[in-house]
Amino acid sequence: MFEQIKPAPPDPILGLTEAFKADPHPKKINLGVGVYKDAGGQTPVLASVKAAEERLLRSEHTKNYLPIDGQPEFDSVTQELLIGADHPLVRAGCVVTAQAPGGTGALRVAGDFIASTLGRRTVWLSDPTWPNHPGVFGAAGLPTATYPYFDKQSNGVNFAGMLAALHTIPVGDVVLLHGCCHNPTGVDLQPEQWDEVAAVVAGRGLLPVVDFAYQGFATGLREDAAGLHALLQHCTTVLVASSYSKNFGLYNERVGALTIVAPSAEQAKTALSHIKRVIRANYSNPPAHGAQVVSLVLNDPELRQLWEREVGEMRDRINGMRHLFVETLHEQGVEHDFSFIARQRGMFSFSGLTPDQVKALRERHAIYVVGSGRISVAGMTAHNMDYLCAGIADVLKTAK
Ligand code: LMR
Repeated sequence: MFEQIKPAPPDPILGLTEAFKADPHPKKINLGVGVYKDAGGQTPVLASVKAAEERLLRSEHTKNYLPIDGQPEFDSVTQELLIGADHPLVRAGCVVTAQAPGGTGALRVAGDFIASTLGRRTVWLSDPTWPNHPGVFGAAGLPTATYPYFDKQSNGVNFAGMLAALHTIPVGDVVLLHGCCHNPTGVDLQPEQWDEVAAVVAGRGLLPVVDFAYQGFATGLREDAAGLHALLQHCTTVLVASSYSKNFGLYNERVGALTIVAPSAEQAKTALSHIKRVIRANYSNPPAHGAQVVSLVLNDPELRQLWEREVGEMRDRINGMRHLFVETLHEQGVEHDFSFIARQRGMFSFSGLTPDQVKALRERHAIYVVGSGRISVAGMTAHNMDYLCAGIADVLKTAK
């Protein structure tokens, strides 16, 4: 039966982790996947999460199924974090949320929802984007295309190119926007650019889907939602796929959410009925633990304060590593100007390393980065920095 099936290629990000684990090199470094490491190189369980888990262990009295769309407390606290509990749209009932297995699960539910209710429409992705985006929407039966985003010359956004492309996207198509900490470039729109994008998206009748996986990692929890808020000012319909993998460190609990903003409470309710149908046919209902932790932490003033501080500490450590990375490259004699890395936001640095240099880094130095040249700054520490920068200095000299 399976003789004619050819092996599939490894995943460009998670496949690297598999290869990294099998690598016996004593100094190996994994800067592939976007996972936070502390100064000691560990991916910690946040203290706020641990405290919530202890409480849960004591108070949990059932493992009964959750509702198809997740716990109501989780759904409302998610809306609060993304949009604000007092926002008129939330108060008017125009916002509905369904818990999903991670940000990826939320994107897939969004894709299935779009395909099954609105039909086959193209999803426009930034160039470049997270390598899993085409796979997720493709699996939902939606074709994908790209709009210009990154400008190699300036290491910034090619805003003119992006806007011009948005003006030509067919009415009714879907535009995927990264809420903050653009993955893989770390380069975000400025507030006034978000405003312009939102006006064009609304004016042309496009459907915005916001991939919001890094809230809290750019400037702050509230500040990072500014792009989403610009969209809400202009667009009457918005989909948001959000994730608690990064800002709660709940990677393996798979906890995320799909939030839909609709023009009326009635339309929001109808949309949710279809989201529930999609979920039921896919994984029936979501897992409970991670979502219970998130609701508990966000609803308890003390735990919430602790969590907000922990998010700030993760953000500050990553930004500290950005500066140390630029300085250490300079100390290692690298002449190329990498100062732009200190201005990028979120977990990633879009280094400009070529595929050959990426390959040489892995083969010669056991340093794993994504083929696009994306480096997870969140995996850098003061201990691995010298070895890392020496490796980069070597491949810059010797590989094309
Ligand atoms: C990443 O981009 O590294 C993360 O979003 C993890 C993943 O699932 O790819």
